[in-house]
Amino acid sequence: MDVKTLVEVAPRDRFTRVCALTGAGISVAAGLSTFRGPDGLWRLSPEMERAMHAQLLPSNVDALWSVWGSMFHVAARSGPTAAHRALADAGASVITQNVDELHQRAGSHDVVEIHGSAGRARCLDEDFCGWIGPREEAERTDPPQCPQCGEPARPAVVLFGEMLDPEALTTARKLASECDLFLAVGTSGRVAPASWLAPTAREAGAYCVNVDLYPDGPLDPAFHARVVGDAQEVLTEWAR
Ligand code: APR
Repeated sequence: MDVKTLVEVAPRDRFTRVCALTGAGISVAAGLSTFRGPDGLWRLSPEMERAMHAQLLPSNVDALWSVWGSMFHVAARSGPTAAHRALADAGASVITQNVDELHQRAGSHDVVEIHGSAGRARCLDEDFCGWIGPREEAERTDPPQCPQCGEPARPAVVLFGEMLDPEALTTARKLASECDLFLAVGTSGRVAPASWLAPTAREAGAYCVNVDLYPDGPLDPAFHARVVGDAQEVLTEWAR
């Protein structure tokens, strides 16, 4: 069922273990794009989405820095939004598909970055070097290089066709199965395995709510309710 406010269906004081799965929509107010929304990056530039596939490495490294590096600089300048802070104030654990590190900057402690982070970089030579570290250390050179071996470096963001970090996935599943309120905020729910987390939470007995500003289609049956609204308003009102 579609409802107007989160307070209506899931009053904050009724729950003790809140878990939020977040997507690009929660960071729109920080100046970042969505991918599939009305003016989503992949919708506006299909060739940019094509460049995000792992099998194109290393030829697409420049495109990776251009997309994820510039997005991270926008996020770093804007800082976390009211919605990020609301989740932090509510003590929610966060499973994020975003790579902007805004949840950590808002003060959330339990954050699982299942698609990696644009705040970190990785050496392209994973077999012999395997370096991973702060983006700044790779960006000291142009083009960015691994500070350990000098090979090219890439943003530590999971690309299409790449496996997610198994540890992050295990932690995400654990958080989803231990919560009593599961909120999917600002995500189209189109990308697995993130989209499998709501059913995991539902099966474990959590109350599941989707917060989405431009819902595209029927509500996933894993959710009990959907709040059609801006995450900024919905979450700040709820966490108050
Ligand atoms: N408040 C709430 N929801 C919003 C807002 C807002 N202010 N603005 C946009 N949205 C919603 C859109 O309606 C859409 O459902 O956010 C969702 C964004 O969906 P996507 O663009 O598909 O982003 P996301 O779900 O995060 O994508 C998942 O796909 O390409 C990969 O790595 C990329 O992590 C990303 C993953």
